[in-house]
Amino acid sequence: MGIEEYVKRVESASDFLKAKIPARPEIAIVLGSGLGGLAEVLEGTLTVPYSEIPGFPISTAPGHKGELVFGELNGKHVILMSGRFHYYEGYSMREVVFPIRVFQLLGVEMLVLTNAAGGLNPDFEVGKPMVITDHINFMGDNPLIGPNVDAWGPRFPDMSEPYDVALYELAVEVAHDLGLPLYKGVYVAVSGPSFETAAEYRMFRLLGADAVGMSTVPEVIAAKHGGMKVLGFSVITDRCVPEEGLKPLTAEEVLEAAERGGRTLSELISEIVRRMS
Ligand code: HPA
Repeated sequence: MGIEEYVKRVESASDFLKAKIPARPEIAIVLGSGLGGLAEVLEGTLTVPYSEIPGFPISTAPGHKGELVFGELNGKHVILMSGRFHYYEGYSMREVVFPIRVFQLLGVEMLVLTNAAGGLNPDFEVGKPMVITDHINFMGDNPLIGPNVDAWGPRFPDMSEPYDVALYELAVEVAHDLGLPLYKGVYVAVSGPSFETAAEYRMFRLLGADAVGMSTVPEVIAAKHGGMKVLGFSVITDRCVPEEGLKPLTAEEVLEAAERGGRTLSELISEIVRRMS
């Protein structure tokens, strides 16, 4: 697909949604694996399945809902995105960030991303959240490759502060006030779908990463390109510390830990949203 056709698809999805929603959403929140809990505290909701949105990619992953939920969270108009598109499913980088471009055209100013990730930092305990302060793109691809859409952002976007410092400091303050655990760290993104070898975990730790996962970085790059502020969280779902011996890792184990940590994260995010100015 050429870039013109892609832009048209994003515009038609955004026009369709604009006609349906009562107010411009300020914040979009992408819910990672096992992190669906926030949807229950949203008020006055309108649910739109991806399949009804013209041009929107079709989700294939089992267990992923594939819908946008519009509503109010602690006085702010938000979009919850339930079911993201992963690069390892075979989507192109452009498809992966399609929803982010739609959010941009809807006038969203702030993007909150969540994911499940392996803990490379030996101090990190399973089931607890980390706020992302920076990332390493190790996916071997970038959603901005190809012709630049100048109306959406610059050819060479700055990445000196991909995660908004004021927002992640607010997250740390909220966690402290609520007595909830919250680590701070660097997220490294890989393509997956295979989990890493012991040698790879050792390498990523040496490179300065605290958590490893298979998502989020493409969305952050597109959102920054589009001028949004970004806040990102990982729930630590498994220990990636080869020195203590690795047990075989399963997707079920990851999901179970993500669901546990997701409750803490939902509490944190809804209070952060309340305090956002
Ligand atoms: N590696 C990559 N992605 C992950 C992991 C991991 O160990 N755990 C959860 N997502």
